[in-house]
Amino acid sequence: MATAERLIAEPQVRHTECFIGGKWLPAASGKTFETINPATEEPIASVAEGDQQDIDLAVDAARRAFDSGPWSRMDARDRGRLMYKLADLIEDEIDELAALESLDNGKPVKDARAADLPLVIDCLRYYAGFADKIQGSTIPIRGNYFSYSRREPVGVVGQIIPWNFPMLMTAWKWGPALAAGCTVVMKPAEQTPLTCLRMAQLAQDAGIPDGVINVVPGFGPTAGGAIVKHPGVDKVAFTGEHLTAQIIMREAATSLKRLTFELGGKSPNVIAADADLDAAAVGTNFGLFFNQGQCCCAGSRVFVDERVHDEFVDKLKNLAAGRRLGAPLEMETDQGPQVDQAQFDKIMSYIEKGQAEGAQCITGGKRYGDRGYFIEPTIFDGVNDDMSIAKDEIFGPVMSVLKYRDWDEMIERANKTFYGLAAAVWTRDVTQAHDFARRVRAGTIWVNCYDVFDAAAPFGGFKMSGQGRELGEEGLRPYTESKTVTIHLG
Ligand code: NAI
Ligand code: MG
Repeated sequence: MATAERLIAEPQVRHTECFIGGKWLPAASGKTFETINPATEEPIASVAEGDQQDIDLAVDAARRAFDSGPWSRMDARDRGRLMYKLADLIEDEIDELAALESLDNGKPVKDARAADLPLVIDCLRYYAGFADKIQGSTIPIRGNYFSYSRREPVGVVGQIIPWNFPMLMTAWKWGPALAAGCTVVMKPAEQTPLTCLRMAQLAQDAGIPDGVINVVPGFGPTAGGAIVKHPGVDKVAFTGEHLTAQIIMREAATSLKRLTFELGGKSPNVIAADADLDAAAVGTNFGLFFNQGQCCCAGSRVFVDERVHDEFVDKLKNLAAGRRLGAPLEMETDQGPQVDQAQFDKIMSYIEKGQAEGAQCITGGKRYGDRGYFIEPTIFDGVNDDMSIAKDEIFGPVMSVLKYRDWDEMIERANKTFYGLAAAVWTRDVTQAHDFARRVRAGTIWVNCYDVFDAAAPFGGFKMSGQGRELGEEGLRPYTESKTVTIHLG
């Protein structure tokens, strides 16, 4: 039997313990949990299950590195230099890291190699360049005073990330934190701890001092909860579900920690009658099915002008049916499994709801194969705004197609959601494109493209899709405090 082409034959798991104060440590409780290969449902490795005791140690290490340690004393430019070095080490290991990400998460190695990893490297370099450019200003106050502002690091930051882009979310969190001069206690998602642990070792190899980055794998309510409640943590940055964000906000109220959130979406993707329909179909297919549909900004509500509906839906159906499902580590695979049994079950229940509520499933709708959490690329046509598949974040390969007739009515429907993360429009009419960009309440608007990300472009949500922005200069601000200094002159 011919073996399919792979980037790396078997990715190696090198780290499974907590990384605290520059040392690899088992969980204080001695507990471990298994991380599962979603393509085979078999365990990959046992990983330390950190909880409050480990978070306490990690916060102590991070506090020391911040309050009196090497990080607070280092020149900003030298911090930047270490971050460039970390980016270089990741680049040197890009194939292995892509394969490890694919193994743990189930995403096609092709995507991890071409999308996730280049964005990780870019993000770290972008923020490395910012380390020595975080400046204050002089303030012309009344009287005989000299007044100026400083931007100082916010302190020890707790970072809690999800499983859909494990390395990229790590980079989005570490980049601005390190550039600003903060120290980090991170909890990766329990489904995908492996690449974040590898990145911690690379950070040490790059020369980032012990205690600056600490990683404690474990579960949400225990390890994550301990970060949120810890009085030694100054800020929490969280990416995940809005329901989790609500818990975090309540728990952080006691200490009034700074909070930033990047949450879910139900993003509208609009196909106007004058659009380049072939390009729009390719972009729409990508905008929903990329990463098995496990994207916070997935274009899951596809609004199509009724005049082009039938022609467009035919194109969508062909593209979806042409996706190659299979082993994520093989280079030809377009779509891998969902991340775990819970996500698989949730998505299948939405496919059932779509059918029960009267939408037409025009392709897919079933499990693929009998091993692994694979789901066929699924498209529902004839979807109404009130159906649950049009309202809830499914976070899987399930697209809902909705027809529209009137432009203004479509904008109103596009905004009829408590989310507001992203939106896209496909049109050749520049006036229409700007009208859409102005009126749709979402943090990112794409015109004639989808899922275009760049470290320089802020990303985040309106409404219940988040609070604050990540990336760009705006993404640095929540990692700093502003201090005003006023000096009496004589
Ligand atoms: P989640 O929000 O529960 O998990 C994300 C992270 O938060 C993980 O590291 C988890 O361990 C941690 N966490 C969970 N409960 C916590 C708590 N009480 N305190 C502190 N940390 C906690 O998301 P989950 O359960 O993995 O997925 C559920 C749904 O959330 C998905 O089906 C999807 O709709 C949405 N989601 C959205 C993401 C996004 O990028 N916006 C990413 C992941 C999930
Ligand atoms: Mg959860």
